[in-house]
Amino acid sequence: MPLVSTKEMFEKAYKGGYAIGAFNVNNMEIIQGITEAAKEENAPLILQVSSGARKYANHTYLVKLVEAAIQETGLPIALHLDHGDTFELCKSCIDGGFTSVMIDGSHHSFEDNIALTRQVVEYAHAHGVAVEGELGRLAGIEDAVNVSDKDASYTDPDQVQEFVEKTGVDSLAIAIGTSHGAYKFKPGQKPQLRFDILEEVEKRLPGFPIVLHGASSVIPKYVDIINANGGRMPDAIGIPEDMLRKAASMAVCKINIDSDLRLAMTAAIREHFAQCPEHFDPRQYLSPARANIKELVKHKLVNVLGCNGKA
Ligand code: G3H
Ligand code: 13P
Ligand code: ZN
Repeated sequence: MPLVSTKEMFEKAYKGGYAIGAFNVNNMEIIQGITEAAKEENAPLILQVSSGARKYANHTYLVKLVEAAIQETGLPIALHLDHGDTFELCKSCIDGGFTSVMIDGSHHSFEDNIALTRQVVEYAHAHGVAVEGELGRLAGIEDAVNVSDKDASYTDPDQVQEFVEKTGVDSLAIAIGTSHGAYKFKPGQKPQLRFDILEEVEKRLPGFPIVLHGASSVIPKYVDIINANGGRMPDAIGIPEDMLRKAASMAVCKINIDSDLRLAMTAAIREHFAQCPEHFDPRQYLSPARANIKELVKHKLVNVLGCNGKA
């Protein structure tokens, strides 16, 4: 089976009240852990590559690894550019075999965001590739850019119809209180999402797939293992799983997860070296790292996204 588009995945997810997991990939072990989990749960997948991942691992290596995963699993997998920031980057991924791209113009003015997104949509659609746009701005860390809380802004539901009509995007990322990275809420702060905004967006765009970025739950088990084995992560707080499940039952069809993968992998490696400090063969510590990714992704597919059995 070749790489698939997100179009059919989103149509089914919207109707079925579940979401597709969009997991960030950077190397072979991460791709194997995610796709082995999805195979066992018979779940559709979006594997996404940031510009940082592309710089780290090289476009061709990542595409070939994902193709290998499709060959091994037979699953419907879409390959997506995460947070594309220029037309040229999106074009390069479209020309290089991706089936979906995000153009993130959220830091531009409304008008400039529309113009940039429209330019990407015209090229992408001419090549059969789907496009995700973004309106509103998440706080947190993204590819070494730190968006402060004061620069973050919720999506304005009054703008979404005009944005979708004028750009022609296939899905829309919105800001309702999630943020990138492991420190989403301050210590003592009660995690909250603006479901009222999501409801308003859903009313203005009936049947249209919405995307949630910054949706890691920062699972305490992994943070505790990291800190028990020499790590220093202060008060890491993520999005509660029940809130993600609620979003998935609404218009949210794609939920982005990266930080939780990083934590699961790092927890396994720290624990391994604490127990076996004499080891130096990467296979010895990357095997438990890959196993932790698999365990985490199975949990997400079944208990958070609800997309198990939907491949
Ligand atoms: O939203 C950002 C993703 O977590 C990707 O992070 O740019 O460090 O690869 P990265
Ligand atoms: P997290 O940092 O919450 O995993 O978000 C990842 C993301 O939004 C990738 O685009
Ligand atoms: Zn993101």
